Amino acid sequence: MTSVTSENVKTIYFLDALKLFIETQWLYNTPVTDLLTADLLDLFPKEWLHVLQILENEDLNDFVVNRKIKPQWPESLRLFVEKCEHIDQLPIIDTVLAAELPKHFQTGLSRKKQHEIMHLAHLVHEQCVSENIKVIVDLGAGLGYICQLLHHLYGYKVLGLEKKKETVNNVQNRQMKMFPDSLTYVKYSHCDLTHNSAEIIETILLNKFQEHSDVCLIGLHACGDLSIDALKIYRDMKRARIFIMVSCCYHKMSVSKSVQTDTLIKKQYFNNFPLSNYLKTVIRNANFDIGFFLRQPFLRLACQEPSDRWCNMSIKTHNEHSFHVLARAVLQLYAAKNGFCLIKQTRKGTRKSQCLNFETYIKDSLNRYILQPLKEQDMQLNLNIHEKNMVELWKSHCNKLKAVEIYSGLQLMLQAPAESFILQDRLCWMEEQGFDATIVPVMNRHLSPRSYAIISHKK
Ligand SMILES: C[S@@+](CC[C@H](N)C(=O)[O-])C[C@H]1O[C@@H](n2cnc3c(N)ncnc32)[C@H](O)[C@@H]1O
Repeated sequence: MTSVTSENVKTIYFLDALKLFIETQWLYNTPVTDLLTADLLDLFPKEWLHVLQILENEDLNDFVVNRKIKPQWPESLRLFVEKCEHIDQLPIIDTVLAAELPKHFQTGLSRKKQHEIMHLAHLVHEQCVSENIKVIVDLGAGLGYICQLLHHLYGYKVLGLEKKKETVNNVQNRQMKMFPDSLTYVKYSHCDLTHNSAEIIETILLNKFQEHSDVCLIGLHACGDLSIDALKIYRDMKRARIFIMVSCCYHKMSVSKSVQTDTLIKKQYFNNFPLSNYLKTVIRNANFDIGFFLRQPFLRLACQEPSDRWCNMSIKTHNEHSFHVLARAVLQLYAAKNGFCLIKQTRKGTRKSQCLNFETYIKDSLNRYILQPLKEQDMQLNLNIHEKNMVELWKSHCNKLKAVEIYSGLQLMLQAPAESFILQDRLCWMEEQGFDATIVPVMNRHLSPRSYAIISHKK
């Protein structure tokens, strides 16, 4: 009998995840605007649709949010849910801070941003206290909200690094106006961080604070490659003892290679995903071509809102959602069938709630999009004719509203597995570099969808 080692467990996890994402490509690998153009609803297993479309609203929400299944459902559907559950290893949030931000910190900040900085600052403090760390470096500091808060609440010295010069000017002006007492303790610097920035950060720290103490590296919503560059900075920077990073915008990671295939799909490969040698080896050994299915649409899926969004969602909201998804898909289908491409104009459309029948929706859309003939010799048609034709097309597809909503729900169920898979790959990389690291829930997912931090302490 072979023993189950942690290596086996990891291999099984990654292999199972890859298989799940291959099997479910029809749910995420094509933009939802092409739902009809690419006949995605025809890929829906009929037996799934059969049992899901008769669910009451509450049961459908429960299925998507809590993965609640019924024993009489088709085995393939129950297995799908089981696999989602197995691949989603994101921990459950168990603490919510009751505390509010100090009043003058609330000015100009959304509820979401207030929640995020309060919770992350609390976590950073918890981690730094145990190691007696007094200096924090914020990578991708933006307008420095958390930098100011960390100093104000806990007295840290903070260095905020930001690649946009204009943002650095704005944050410094903001600091002068709102927090003049912090000028000696909170400093901002223009710095376009790369994986090679450990040394330059040491130099900036020395220039700004004239000291050599250990630091904690943090990032709040570090987008795209910045999260990975930050990991490498942590590895290379001796003084960096703690790492706390909440990532976002996985789909903004840089593409290393893009290959047009015979099918419509363009294969994509990324510089920083997969990251760990472990996952790369699993992929190689299993002979998967991830360029087909771990593309930008997959990374977009991972940074969608989580399925909790459907918690107690009303029938009205579901109806509005499915209407807009399907109406937009009909517009796309019409353009594709008739040799047009849709070009978005800057003009803002009517509010969603104001166009809940297709005629109004189309009038509004024809204000927002131009139907540009793909071939020069094709004629522009009169808008009234487009409108009439589109209404006809809508009539032949409007019976798909329920299927569209179920499709969206199933897609939503894949969000957590996708994000978990990406973060597990990063953890695995950390392990390969000799670091212990964990994924910790920091924020309320309802309020702030990117709510997990990777934390590491150097031994
Ligand atoms: C999503 S924003 C978050 C800003 C801030 N941490 C917050 O939560 O309010 C990401 C920030 O990282 C900055 N950024 C992205 N890549 C960077 C890099 N390579 N070096 C420095 N800053 C970077 C962006 O300009 C942006 O201000």
